[in-house]
Amino acid sequence: MLEHLKPQPADKIIELIALYAADTRADKLDLGVGVYKDEAGKTPVMRAIKAAEAKLLAEQASKSYVGLLGDLGFVAAMRDMVLGQSVPADRVVGAQTPGGTGAIRQLYELVKLASPDATMWMSDPTWPNHPAILKHVGLKGASYRYFETKTCAVDFDGMMADLAQAKPGDIILLHGCCHNPTGANLDAAQWVAIGDLILKNNLIPLIDFAYQGFGDGLDEDAAGVRALAARVPQMLIAASCSKNFGVYRDRVGVALVLAENAEQAQLSKANLATLNRLNYSFPPDHGAVVVASVLADPALRADWQAELESMRQRMLDLRVGLAAALRKATNSSRFDFVADHRGMFSRLGLTPEQVLRLRDEFGIYMVGDSRLNVAGLPGERLDWLASAIAKVL
Ligand code: LMR
Repeated sequence: MLEHLKPQPADKIIELIALYAADTRADKLDLGVGVYKDEAGKTPVMRAIKAAEAKLLAEQASKSYVGLLGDLGFVAAMRDMVLGQSVPADRVVGAQTPGGTGAIRQLYELVKLASPDATMWMSDPTWPNHPAILKHVGLKGASYRYFETKTCAVDFDGMMADLAQAKPGDIILLHGCCHNPTGANLDAAQWVAIGDLILKNNLIPLIDFAYQGFGDGLDEDAAGVRALAARVPQMLIAASCSKNFGVYRDRVGVALVLAENAEQAQLSKANLATLNRLNYSFPPDHGAVVVASVLADPALRADWQAELESMRQRMLDLRVGLAAALRKATNSSRFDFVADHRGMFSRLGLTPEQVLRLRDEFGIYMVGDSRLNVAGLPGERLDWLASAIAKVL
């Protein structure tokens, strides 16, 4: 049997982790996988998470099963964090999932159950796992223009022209904030225009919301999603706690469904529970219950928000610093967009050959499409990085 297996295509992001680990140069620089690093190059456990974990260790009396949908307190807290007061709570149901990827997978499967002929429209470019999971699940995919390579800004006219081709019932996958891989984001007016198109053509938005709090702030990053939620009858959201709570390996996420009415919501909830049961039974509890207790405790929540805010500020400072260093090194404004982009990533607009030269000649690792993880930058090496980039141009 096993001889019939075929080699699987490598995930470009995961592949980079191994390549970086195997590099023996002392001054190598990892700007690949989306993991936040502090000034010392560490990815710390956030203070509030540590405190909640200590409390859990002291107080947890049982490790018996919780429920197929996971911790319902966690699901409700995430609903509120993502959607605020934009929709009545009884229209939203959710399932705890292993990370944001788990939520994407479960929502794709929900689409497959409800509407197997729907096409999933994904931005070009998008996170490589979006089309990869889609293919595995067996849904149809299409892409819409998103990024203007010359200006490194959103190609909104192209996006709208392509999305106008979507058929009623098709799903539009949008990044809630901090677009991965480009760093170029929709503004408030563009969210409204997309909402108009979705309503006019009976489309269904699926939001990948993996970086809330990493762009302009927790509520600011949710503004587009909330404005859309307030207008559309149905919406799907995959939210991740990997980055904003720093619980990457604990795999904490939630699949939320906004339904038209309470009846549809209950049906969706039962389907999400079945999908959890079919895929892994009960979702992993630890990280979700820790996040839930941070969100429920005013002091821990305030401390978490303060630490998240300092991480966000650090990424912004690094953006401004890198844009300035690149301006100096290239004697041009070509890379000024780095300071305008938001989130962990920016796509620099280098060729694959230039990205490879950065890796070979300087030990600088970024994804082949020239996606750079801003949160992996050491502040004192911005000039060094900028001059390496200038040398390969
Ligand atoms: C990334 O895009 O680097 C992160 O979302 C990590 C991952 O799983 O790909």
